[in-house]
Amino acid sequence: MRLQDKSIIVTGAGGGIGEGIARRLAAEGAQIIVNDINASIGEKVVAGINAAGGRASFFSADVTRSADVKALVDAARQRHGRLDVMVSNAGWTHRNRPALEVSEDEFDKCYAVNVKSIYLATIHAAPLFRAQGGGCFINIASTAGVRPRPGLTWYNGSKGAVIITSKSLAAELGPDNIRVNCVNPVFNPDTGLSVEFAGGPLDEERKAKFRASIPLGRFSTALDVANAVLYLASDEAAFISGVCIEVDGARCV
Ligand SMILES: NC(=O)c1ccc[n+]([C@@H]2O[C@H](COP(=O)([O-])OP(=O)(O)OC[C@H]3O[C@@H](n4cnc5c(N)ncnc54)[C@H](O)[C@@H]3O)[C@@H](O)[C@H]2O)c1
Repeated sequence: MRLQDKSIIVTGAGGGIGEGIARRLAAEGAQIIVNDINASIGEKVVAGINAAGGRASFFSADVTRSADVKALVDAARQRHGRLDVMVSNAGWTHRNRPALEVSEDEFDKCYAVNVKSIYLATIHAAPLFRAQGGGCFINIASTAGVRPRPGLTWYNGSKGAVIITSKSLAAELGPDNIRVNCVNPVFNPDTGLSVEFAGGPLDEERKAKFRASIPLGRFSTALDVANAVLYLASDEAAFISGVCIEVDGARCV
Protein backbone atom coordinates (compact mmCIF):
# COMPACT_ATOMS: atom_id res chain seq x y z
CA MET A 1 0.00 0.00 0.00
CA ARG A 2 1.62 3.23 -1.16
CA LEU A 3 -0.50 5.57 1.02
CA GLN A 4 -1.17 3.44 4.09
CA ASP A 5 -3.21 5.44 6.67
CA LYS A 6 -2.49 8.82 5.07
CA SER A 7 -5.24 11.36 5.74
CA ILE A 8 -6.34 12.91 2.45
CA ILE A 9 -9.02 15.40 1.37
CA VAL A 10 -10.16 15.36 -2.27
CA THR A 11 -12.38 18.30 -3.22
CA GLY A 12 -15.04 17.98 -5.90
CA ALA A 13 -14.84 14.20 -5.55
CA GLY A 14 -18.54 13.50 -6.11
CA GLY A 15 -17.92 12.68 -9.78
CA GLY A 16 -15.56 12.96 -12.74
CA ILE A 17 -11.82 13.15 -12.15
CA GLY A 18 -12.15 13.76 -8.38
CA GLU A 19 -14.11 10.54 -7.93
CA GLY A 20 -11.37 8.65 -9.78
CA ILE A 21 -8.71 10.24 -7.56
CA ALA A 22 -10.59 9.39 -4.35
CA ARG A 23 -11.11 5.76 -5.41
CA ARG A 24 -7.48 5.26 -6.47
CA LEU A 25 -5.97 6.81 -3.32
CA ALA A 26 -8.35 4.81 -1.09
CA ALA A 27 -7.29 1.60 -2.85
CA GLU A 28 -3.71 2.39 -1.74
CA GLY A 29 -4.67 2.54 1.94
CA ALA A 30 -5.45 6.24 2.43
CA GLN A 31 -8.28 7.52 4.64
CA ILE A 32 -10.24 9.82 2.35
CA ILE A 33 -12.56 12.71 2.98
CA VAL A 34 -14.67 12.96 -0.15
CA ASN A 35 -15.74 16.60 -0.48
CA ASP A 36 -18.33 18.00 -2.84
CA ILE A 37 -20.90 20.76 -2.88
CA ASN A 38 -23.42 18.10 -3.96
CA ALA A 39 -23.99 15.71 -1.04
CA SER A 40 -25.98 13.02 -2.84
CA ILE A 41 -23.26 12.23 -5.38
CA GLY A 42 -20.51 12.53 -2.76
CA GLU A 43 -22.25 10.04 -0.44
CA LYS A 44 -22.49 7.57 -3.34
CA VAL A 45 -18.74 7.75 -3.95
CA VAL A 46 -18.12 7.17 -0.24
CA ALA A 47 -20.43 4.12 -0.24
CA GLY A 48 -18.59 2.72 -3.28
CA ILE A 49 -15.15 3.15 -1.68
CA ASN A 50 -16.25 1.60 1.63
CA ALA A 51 -17.98 -1.31 -0.15
CA ALA A 52 -14.68 -2.01 -1.92
CA GLY A 53 -12.89 -2.26 1.44
CA GLY A 54 -11.55 1.32 1.53
CA ARG A 55 -11.99 4.02 4.15
CA ALA A 56 -13.89 7.16 3.18
CA SER A 57 -16.35 9.64 4.63
CA PHE A 58 -18.17 12.60 3.13
CA PHE A 59 -17.92 16.28 4.02
CA SER A 60 -20.11 18.83 2.28
CA ALA A 61 -18.33 22.13 1.65
CA ASP A 62 -18.24 24.87 -0.95
CA VAL A 63 -14.55 25.41 -1.77
CA THR A 64 -15.19 29.10 -2.48
CA ARG A 65 -16.29 29.79 1.11
CA SER A 66 -13.69 30.31 3.80
CA ALA A 67 -15.76 28.94 6.70
CA ASP A 68 -16.56 25.80 4.67
CA VAL A 69 -12.92 25.11 3.81
CA LYS A 70 -11.87 25.68 7.42
CA ALA A 71 -14.53 23.19 8.55
CA LEU A 72 -13.35 20.70 5.90
CA VAL A 73 -9.75 20.83 7.16
CA ASP A 74 -10.99 20.59 10.78
CA ALA A 75 -13.01 17.50 9.81
CA ALA A 76 -9.87 15.73 8.57
CA ARG A 77 -8.07 16.53 11.82
CA GLN A 78 -11.03 15.38 13.92
CA ARG A 79 -11.74 12.19 11.93
CA HIS A 80 -8.16 11.10 11.18
CA GLY A 81 -6.08 12.97 13.77
CA ARG A 82 -4.11 14.80 11.06
CA LEU A 83 -4.11 15.86 7.40
CA ASP A 84 -1.36 14.65 5.07
CA VAL A 85 -2.58 15.65 1.60
CA MET A 86 -5.03 18.25 0.30
CA VAL A 87 -6.09 17.58 -3.29
CA SER A 88 -7.81 20.66 -4.75
CA ASN A 89 -9.71 19.19 -7.68
CA ALA A 90 -13.09 20.99 -7.67
CA GLY A 91 -13.29 23.15 -10.78
CA TRP A 92 -15.69 24.99 -13.03
CA THR A 93 -15.68 26.55 -16.50
CA HIS A 94 -17.80 28.93 -18.52
CA ARG A 95 -19.06 27.35 -21.74
CA ASN A 96 -16.60 27.41 -24.65
CA ARG A 97 -17.30 30.64 -26.52
CA PRO A 98 -15.67 33.96 -27.49
CA ALA A 99 -14.00 35.72 -24.56
CA LEU A 100 -16.07 38.87 -24.98
CA GLU A 101 -19.32 36.93 -24.58
CA VAL A 102 -18.53 35.51 -21.14
CA SER A 103 -20.44 37.36 -18.41
CA GLU A 104 -18.88 38.97 -15.35
CA ASP A 105 -20.76 36.50 -13.13
CA GLU A 106 -19.29 33.56 -15.05
CA PHE A 107 -15.80 35.08 -14.80
CA ASP A 108 -16.21 35.54 -11.03
CA LYS A 109 -17.45 31.97 -10.56
CA CYS A 110 -14.59 30.57 -12.63
CA TYR A 111 -11.97 32.38 -10.55
CA ALA A 112 -13.75 31.60 -7.27
CA VAL A 113 -13.99 27.84 -7.83
CA ASN A 114 -10.64 27.42 -9.59
CA VAL A 115 -8.36 30.01 -7.93
CA LYS A 116 -9.86 31.33 -4.70
CA SER A 117 -10.25 27.69 -3.64
CA ILE A 118 -6.46 27.33 -3.77
CA TYR A 119 -6.06 30.46 -1.60
CA LEU A 120 -8.55 29.10 0.95
CA ALA A 121 -7.01 25.61 0.97
CA THR A 122 -3.61 27.19 1.63
CA ILE A 123 -4.83 29.57 4.32
CA HIS A 124 -6.60 26.81 6.24
CA ALA A 125 -4.43 23.73 5.67
CA ALA A 126 -0.89 25.17 5.67
CA PRO A 127 -0.96 26.08 9.42
CA LEU A 128 -1.94 22.48 10.22
CA PHE A 129 0.80 21.15 7.94
CA ARG A 130 3.30 23.44 9.69
CA ALA A 131 2.20 22.25 13.12
CA GLN A 132 2.52 18.62 12.01
CA GLY A 133 5.99 19.09 10.46
CA GLY A 134 4.89 18.88 6.83
CA GLY A 135 2.18 18.17 4.30
CA CYS A 136 1.34 18.10 0.63
CA PHE A 137 -0.90 20.14 -1.67
CA ILE A 138 -1.85 18.73 -5.06
CA ASN A 139 -3.76 21.08 -7.34
CA ILE A 140 -5.57 19.88 -10.45
CA ALA A 141 -4.81 22.51 -13.08
CA SER A 142 -5.05 21.74 -16.83
CA THR A 143 -3.26 21.64 -20.16
CA ALA A 144 -5.43 24.74 -20.71
CA GLY A 145 -3.17 26.68 -18.34
CA VAL A 146 -0.06 25.91 -20.42
CA ARG A 147 -1.20 25.64 -24.05
CA PRO A 148 -4.45 27.64 -24.29
CA ARG A 149 -6.92 27.32 -27.14
CA PRO A 150 -9.57 29.87 -28.13
CA GLY A 151 -13.01 29.75 -26.54
CA LEU A 152 -11.97 29.04 -22.96
CA THR A 153 -9.91 32.17 -22.31
CA TRP A 154 -11.03 32.97 -18.77
CA TYR A 155 -10.89 29.30 -17.72
CA ASN A 156 -7.42 28.99 -19.31
CA GLY A 157 -6.28 32.04 -17.34
CA SER A 158 -7.63 30.62 -14.09
CA LYS A 159 -5.66 27.41 -14.60
CA GLY A 160 -2.53 29.41 -15.45
CA ALA A 161 -3.03 31.14 -12.10
CA VAL A 162 -3.28 27.76 -10.36
CA ILE A 163 0.01 26.67 -11.93
CA ILE A 164 2.09 29.74 -11.11
CA THR A 165 0.54 30.04 -7.64
CA SER A 166 1.45 26.42 -6.92
CA LYS A 167 5.06 26.99 -8.00
CA SER A 168 5.26 30.13 -5.87
CA LEU A 169 3.81 28.35 -2.83
CA ALA A 170 6.26 25.47 -3.33
CA ALA A 171 9.11 27.98 -3.04
CA GLU A 172 7.59 29.72 -0.04
CA LEU A 173 6.42 26.70 1.96
CA GLY A 174 9.31 24.33 1.19
CA PRO A 175 11.22 25.30 4.37
CA ASP A 176 8.18 24.00 6.33
CA ASN A 177 8.44 20.63 4.54
CA ILE A 178 5.25 21.42 2.64
CA ARG A 179 5.21 20.24 -0.97
CA VAL A 180 2.99 21.87 -3.61
CA ASN A 181 2.47 20.32 -7.04
CA CYS A 182 0.00 20.33 -9.93
CA VAL A 183 -1.38 17.76 -12.29
CA ASN A 184 -2.39 19.04 -15.74
CA PRO A 185 -4.92 16.77 -17.49
CA VAL A 186 -5.83 17.05 -21.15
CA PHE A 187 -9.50 16.75 -22.20
CA ASN A 188 -11.58 13.93 -20.68
CA PRO A 189 -14.92 13.59 -22.50
CA ASP A 190 -16.58 11.59 -19.70
CA THR A 191 -16.93 14.20 -16.94
CA GLY A 192 -19.51 16.81 -15.99
CA LEU A 193 -17.49 19.67 -17.46
CA SER A 194 -16.77 18.09 -20.84
CA VAL A 195 -19.83 19.54 -22.60
CA GLU A 196 -18.86 23.03 -21.39
CA PHE A 197 -15.27 22.56 -22.57
CA ALA A 198 -16.51 21.40 -25.96
CA GLY A 199 -19.11 24.16 -26.25
CA GLY A 200 -21.94 21.64 -26.63
CA PRO A 201 -22.61 17.94 -27.13
CA LEU A 202 -19.62 16.14 -28.62
CA ASP A 203 -20.28 14.19 -31.80
CA GLU A 204 -17.84 11.58 -33.09
CA GLU A 205 -16.48 13.91 -35.77
CA ARG A 206 -15.52 16.62 -33.24
CA LYS A 207 -14.07 14.01 -30.90
CA ALA A 208 -11.93 12.57 -33.69
CA LYS A 209 -10.61 16.03 -34.60
CA PHE A 210 -9.64 16.77 -31.00
CA ARG A 211 -8.19 13.29 -30.49
CA ALA A 212 -5.96 13.83 -33.53
CA SER A 213 -4.15 16.61 -31.61
CA ILE A 214 -3.07 14.12 -28.93
CA PRO A 215 -0.06 12.11 -30.16
CA LEU A 216 -0.78 9.12 -27.90
CA GLY A 217 -4.12 8.86 -29.70
CA ARG A 218 -6.72 9.01 -26.93
CA PHE A 219 -8.25 11.30 -24.31
CA SER A 220 -7.24 11.29 -20.65
CA THR A 221 -9.13 9.21 -18.11
CA ALA A 222 -9.76 9.87 -14.42
CA LEU A 223 -7.45 6.92 -13.69
CA ASP A 224 -4.59 8.52 -15.66
CA VAL A 225 -4.90 11.63 -13.50
CA ALA A 226 -5.36 9.62 -10.30
CA ASN A 227 -2.15 7.68 -10.93
CA ALA A 228 -0.18 10.94 -11.19
CA VAL A 229 -1.83 12.23 -7.99
CA LEU A 230 -1.01 8.94 -6.28
CA TYR A 231 2.69 9.37 -7.04
CA LEU A 232 2.76 13.00 -5.85
CA ALA A 233 0.88 12.08 -2.65
CA SER A 234 3.21 9.19 -1.84
CA ASP A 235 6.54 9.26 -0.03
CA GLU A 236 8.12 8.31 -3.39
CA ALA A 237 7.70 12.00 -4.29
CA ALA A 238 9.26 13.30 -1.05
CA PHE A 239 11.71 15.53 -2.98
CA ILE A 240 9.27 16.60 -5.71
CA SER A 241 7.77 20.07 -5.27
CA GLY A 242 6.85 22.93 -7.59
CA VAL A 243 6.24 20.67 -10.60
CA CYS A 244 3.27 20.19 -12.89
CA ILE A 245 2.84 16.67 -14.21
CA GLU A 246 1.33 16.82 -17.69
CA VAL A 247 -1.18 14.02 -18.16
CA ASP A 248 -1.85 14.92 -21.78
CA GLY A 249 -0.62 12.20 -24.13
CA ALA A 250 2.01 14.69 -25.39
CA ARG A 251 -0.54 17.21 -26.67
CA CYS A 252 1.64 20.00 -28.02
CA VAL A 253 -0.83 22.19 -29.94
N1 LIG B 1 -12.62 16.97 -17.78
C1 LIG B 1 -11.60 17.55 -18.40
O1 LIG B 1 -11.46 17.49 -19.63
C2 LIG B 1 -10.55 18.30 -17.60
C3 LIG B 1 -9.34 18.62 -18.23
C4 LIG B 1 -8.38 19.33 -17.50
C5 LIG B 1 -8.63 19.70 -16.20
N2 LIG B 1 -9.81 19.39 -15.61
C6 LIG B 1 -10.01 19.80 -14.21
O2 LIG B 1 -10.28 18.66 -13.44
C7 LIG B 1 -11.06 19.03 -12.29
C8 LIG B 1 -12.28 18.12 -12.19
O3 LIG B 1 -13.12 18.38 -13.31
P1 LIG B 1 -14.12 17.30 -13.92
O4 LIG B 1 -13.93 17.38 -15.39
O5 LIG B 1 -14.00 16.01 -13.23
O6 LIG B 1 -15.51 18.03 -13.61
P2 LIG B 1 -16.87 17.51 -12.92
O7 LIG B 1 -17.84 18.61 -13.12
O8 LIG B 1 -17.21 16.15 -13.41
O9 LIG B 1 -16.48 17.40 -11.37
C9 LIG B 1 -16.28 18.55 -10.59
C10 LIG B 1 -16.90 18.32 -9.22
O10 LIG B 1 -16.65 19.48 -8.43
C11 LIG B 1 -17.82 19.80 -7.69
N3 LIG B 1 -17.83 21.22 -7.38
C12 LIG B 1 -18.07 22.25 -8.23
N4 LIG B 1 -18.03 23.42 -7.56
C13 LIG B 1 -17.73 23.12 -6.27
C14 LIG B 1 -17.54 23.90 -5.11
N5 LIG B 1 -17.66 25.24 -5.14
N6 LIG B 1 -17.22 23.28 -3.94
C15 LIG B 1 -17.12 21.92 -3.90
N7 LIG B 1 -17.30 21.13 -4.98
C16 LIG B 1 -17.60 21.72 -6.15
C17 LIG B 1 -18.98 19.39 -8.61
O11 LIG B 1 -20.18 19.17 -7.88
C18 LIG B 1 -18.43 18.13 -9.28
O12 LIG B 1 -18.80 16.95 -8.58
C19 LIG B 1 -11.40 20.51 -12.47
O13 LIG B 1 -10.49 21.31 -11.73
C20 LIG B 1 -11.18 20.73 -13.97
O14 LIG B 1 -10.88 22.07 -14.27
C21 LIG B 1 -10.78 18.70 -16.28
